[in-house]
Amino acid sequence: MKKEKVRFAVVGYGFAGKRHCSHLLSIPRAELIAVADCDITRQNEARIALSCSVHSDYISMLEHHPEIEVVNICTPNGLHTEQAIKCLSRGCHVVIEKPMGLTVESCQRVMQCAIKMKRHVFCVLQNRYSPTVIWLREIIENHLLGKIQFVEINCFWNREPTYYLQSPWRGQLEMDGGPLFTQFSHFIDILRWLVGDVYNIHGIFARVKPENPTEFEDTGAINFQLKNGGIGSLNYSIATYRQNFESSITIIGEKGTVKIGGQYMNEVLHCDIQDYAFEPLPSCNKPNDYGFYQGSADNFRQMLENIILCLQGENCYISSGWEGLQGVNIIQKIYQHRAEFLRRWNLPPKVRKEITRHLAASI
Ligand SMILES: NC(=O)c1ccc[n+]([C@@H]2O[C@H](COP(=O)([O-])OP(=O)(O)OC[C@H]3O[C@@H](n4cnc5c(N)ncnc54)[C@H](O)[C@@H]3O)[C@@H](O)[C@H]2O)c1
Repeated sequence: MKKEKVRFAVVGYGFAGKRHCSHLLSIPRAELIAVADCDITRQNEARIALSCSVHSDYISMLEHHPEIEVVNICTPNGLHTEQAIKCLSRGCHVVIEKPMGLTVESCQRVMQCAIKMKRHVFCVLQNRYSPTVIWLREIIENHLLGKIQFVEINCFWNREPTYYLQSPWRGQLEMDGGPLFTQFSHFIDILRWLVGDVYNIHGIFARVKPENPTEFEDTGAINFQLKNGGIGSLNYSIATYRQNFESSITIIGEKGTVKIGGQYMNEVLHCDIQDYAFEPLPSCNKPNDYGFYQGSADNFRQMLENIILCLQGENCYISSGWEGLQGVNIIQKIYQHRAEFLRRWNLPPKVRKEITRHLAASI
């Protein structure tokens, strides 16, 4: 029997929203009904690029189009949870861009609303669809590494001042939250998906590139214990010289050592496992290319297709709201250790605005 198309809308027509729209347009079982963005330039871009209806306000979009079934929320991080609650309350399912929210409490409120309204919450955790990650999860689930002893995650990316000037919410504590939310939440998700939750966290944070107009760190070194046994470390920076350098995870188990890496965990760099012969994997999708910076692997299409199959009862979902919430929980636990550093740096918003103005004048 031929299935009906699932009717989507997208809120936020920026870098991520444009990707969502272009993938939705290419998926036969999806129909893009409408887009909402509060910015007039973005609305005009949408009118030129898309044949769907375009709105300045997502609530009035939902009122105009009661046929919308799913809303993809692609707005600044700090708006995700409140917008998700409003869409759920009006009877829509939601797909929330990463991070699901900036606090565990706000994510819990989203899930409570979803339960009450009997609607689904999906989170964009697209790195789970990378062949390297799928392979590594199978290795771990089949206990081929034995007991996990040590895990190391390294994320060394580059973000220049122009990246922050492009979208005013980036760099703000209240709307962005910090690199673990905006750049590296995918890798925190992979950490948890592969080896479980962490505790006993210790962290050191630094601002090694103060010309970036942010209200938080650009670099961090974190140590922790794994709830399932073993210890680990997460090292990250968005101040790497000139370009993204590495996103990797090394897992040392009693029966083997594995490292996946490359710019976005797209290559198996090392595999030495007892009684196991490594077979080459299908190649990963390229990273999302946003012109002047690169993001994570472009697995949006697989993710959206999975969501459609779930809604049509043909599959189970890989990245639910509960999964998004767990990732936010780890970041929140890590960032509790950042508060003292933020106080020490003493960065009032006024300073940030001045840096931004200075930089805007110089480009
Ligand atoms: N999954 C990924 O790999 C990936 C990649 C990039 C960004 N993201 C996430 O997507 C989100 C958006 O990031 P971006 O880089 O596209 O930012 P962006 O600034 O380019 O786009 C955000 C858009 O939201 C609009 N907006 C703001 N407030 C709004 C409101 N109240 N109603 C409607 N529209 C509103 C802005 O006008 C802007 O066009 C962020 O949460 C980010 O973390 C995810």
